[in-house]
Amino acid sequence: MHLSQLAMSIGQSATLKLNELAGNLKAAGKPVIHLGGGEPEEMIPSGAREEAEKNLSAGFVRYTPTTGTAELKKELCLYTKKHYGLEPEPKNIVVSSGAKQAIYNFLMAVINPGDHVVFPAPYWVSYPEMVKMVYGMPVAVPPRPGELVPTAEDMEARITSNTRAVLLNSPNNPSGQLYSAEFIREMVEICEYRNIYLLMDDIYNRLVFDGAKAPSAFSFSTRGLEDSVIVSINGVSKTYSMTGFRIGWSVGSEAVSKAMAKVQAQVTSCPSALSQKAALGALRGTDDFVETLRSGLEKKRDTMLTELAKLKKVKLRKPQGTFYCFPDFSAYDSDSARLAAMLLEKALVVAVPGKEFGLEGHLRLSYCGSLTDIIEGVERIRKALE
Ligand SMILES: Cc1ncc(COP(=O)(O)O)c(C=O)c1O
Repeated sequence: MHLSQLAMSIGQSATLKLNELAGNLKAAGKPVIHLGGGEPEEMIPSGAREEAEKNLSAGFVRYTPTTGTAELKKELCLYTKKHYGLEPEPKNIVVSSGAKQAIYNFLMAVINPGDHVVFPAPYWVSYPEMVKMVYGMPVAVPPRPGELVPTAEDMEARITSNTRAVLLNSPNNPSGQLYSAEFIREMVEICEYRNIYLLMDDIYNRLVFDGAKAPSAFSFSTRGLEDSVIVSINGVSKTYSMTGFRIGWSVGSEAVSKAMAKVQAQVTSCPSALSQKAALGALRGTDDFVETLRSGLEKKRDTMLTELAKLKKVKLRKPQGTFYCFPDFSAYDSDSARLAAMLLEKALVVAVPGKEFGLEGHLRLSYCGSLTDIIEGVERIRKALE
C-alpha cells in the first residue's frame, strides 16, 4: 500500500530499535545490561502521585484548554522566574505532551519548506528527523577533532539567509557537555543580529554537576520576551523522573506561542488533564527531589568515569550534566554501529552508536541505571574489547 515519501524518509529511532533487540534477548533469558537508557529510575515525586490519584478519583479527566490549565501555566511562570530569572505571563507558555511535542510545535510554527535549522553535532537523534518532518533542512555542525562542541565561529559559518532557526541543547544529549556561557552568549548575539529563532532545549538544565549552573540564553538577550528570538523548552520527564506523564512546555513570545498553540490544537487538542495535575504536584514540591536525583546522577557519573578509565584506549571528556557520556571508542573500532552490535552480541551490553548522534567513533553510555549495572556493564565492555 502507498506510504508517503516523508514516512519513508524518517529514520527509525535508533534507541527504540536497540531496546527492541535488547528486549528480545532479555525475553530469551539473557542477562542484558542496558546502558542505552534515557530516563532516570527514581520513583516520581510524592506530590505528583498524590495529585494524579486525587484528581483521577475526583474525575478530572476531560479536555483542558489547548495550552494547558491556568493553574499549571501560572506555576510555570513562577518556575521560569525561579530558574531563568525571566517573568513570562501565561500567554507566553504552551504546555504540551512532552518537550518533544513542544519542539515539534515550534518547528511546525516557524519552518517553511526548505528552511535550514542549524544545530551542533553531536545532537539528539530526533532533531534532524523532526526538521525533515516539517520539510526543513537539518544542518548539523560538527565539533573540531577531539572536541564535543563546535565553536561559535563554525556555527556562524553554517548560518545563511536560508537559516530560520538555531537549536541548542545544553547540557547535551548525548555528550553530557554543558555549553559555555560564552558560546551561548555568542549564539544569542548571532541570532538576534540576524533575527532568526534560537530554540533552547533546556530539558536537562537542572541536572548539572560539580556546582555548575546551566546558563540561560535569556540572560544574554538584549530584547524583552515579546521581541525575543529565544524559545525555551523544558519538561518534567528528566528533572522529575516523569517520562511517562508526557508533560513539557515552551516559553516564548506571545506571537510564537500562539502559532504553536494553533498547531497543537489541531494535533492533540491539549496535554493529558491528569498528567498536568501530576506535573503541578511535582513543581509545587520542594527542591529536594531534584537535588537528590541530581546528586545521585553525579555519583553515578563519577563511577562511570572511574570504570571507563580502565579502558586504556578510550578517550572521554567529563560530562558536566545529563545522565549520558560519549566516549571515543575509535581506537577499538571506528564504526560505532558495528561496535555497538558486537557489544550487544558478545557482552550483552546495550550502548547507542555515536553515528546516530552525528559523530562516528563514539558510543553513548547512560548512567541513569543502577551502580551495579554501570560497573558490570563497563567491565563486560572491557573484556569484550581485550
Ligand atoms: C535532548 C532532549 N530533548 C527532548 C527530549 C524529550 O523529552 P520529553 O520526554 O519531555 O518529550 C529528550 C528525551 O530524551 C531529550 O534527550
